[in-house]
Amino acid sequence: MRIFSGIQPTNQLHIGNYLGAIKQWVQLQKDNECIYCIVDLHALTIPYDPKTLQQKIKETSIAIMAAGIDPEKSIIFVQSQVKEHAELGWLFNTITPIGELERMTQYKDKSKKFKENINAGLLDYPVLQTADVLLYKGEAVPVGKDQEQHIELMRTLARKFNQKFGQTFKEPASMILKEGAKIMSLVDPKKKMSKSDEAKSCIFLFDSPEDITKKIMSATTDSGKEVKYNLTKKPGISNLLMIYSLLSGKTTQDLEKEFVGKNYGEFKKSLAQVVVQYLEPFRRKQKELMTREVYVQEILKQGQHKAQVIAQETMREVREKMGLI
Ligand code: TYM
Repeated sequence: MRIFSGIQPTNQLHIGNYLGAIKQWVQLQKDNECIYCIVDLHALTIPYDPKTLQQKIKETSIAIMAAGIDPEKSIIFVQSQVKEHAELGWLFNTITPIGELERMTQYKDKSKKFKENINAGLLDYPVLQTADVLLYKGEAVPVGKDQEQHIELMRTLARKFNQKFGQTFKEPASMILKEGAKIMSLVDPKKKMSKSDEAKSCIFLFDSPEDITKKIMSATTDSGKEVKYNLTKKPGISNLLMIYSLLSGKTTQDLEKEFVGKNYGEFKKSLAQVVVQYLEPFRRKQKELMTREVYVQEILKQGQHKAQVIAQETMREVREKMGLI
């Protein structure tokens, strides 16, 4: 199967990005043709500093490799280096009803969060995302729960294009995990963990052991004392239990049993150890890759070339079908 997914070079990666998306990416690269993209064009839709963008692209590329993406198995590349993304995005604009875009939850959320910068790119974001996947005729898209609506739009646009211009694209399926698809903020467990929120609400993949411990120990918990999984009554503890479960391989029921009679503090201390230990190899690999700039640039260049070959082939077909050649 051909798999496509992307990540924005907006901030450091957190454990939500990992458990919802990247962990799946790593698994999938064993038996599939995987294409993973650093989506810098998407990142321009929220306020950013042009002076640090290249650094962030490099850090994000290193981060996904440190978390297990193997450049020997997967294509890793930067979106803006393959011009066809923007071109296909424009062409898809012409078949996208504005109403579909205006009802997107992410657009509504981001318009509230960045009131001074409600740009057309923010509205158009899911159209470019559709172009990302269909340019490679991606069949499945591993993402977190927050992207479900965008994948649904991709399916709609693929169908529309096929109806108008003849069978060209398969409708890509979303791959959203049953567990881990929505990791919540440590500060407000009713909100999802988000890169653009305050640092103490996120466990970043390369946080120091001290920071990880501090953040977990001060994570918002719920009234009562019992370590029990109950999303409505105990959203804070349930979120921490989910993280614990996904990183340790134990079920939340097993963990509840393990922590019977123990308080939140003891549970959090144990979770901090699990997280620190799990992320240890990630920190090590990241440090190593940070010193190998030329190697990382080479991976991205090779990724660009491989991606371009596929993208150009699709564009030839699309231009022909749309009457552009
Ligand atoms: P980004 O960078 O915002 O998020 C990257 C991935 O992390 C997932 N994610 C989460 N999963 C679980 N819990 C969380 N708290 C959490 N926060 C984020 C996201 O669902 C995503 O899978 N729009 C995409 C980028 C993109 C893309 C694409 C993805 C652009 N083009 C084409 C797939 C296919 C995004 O949200 O990036």
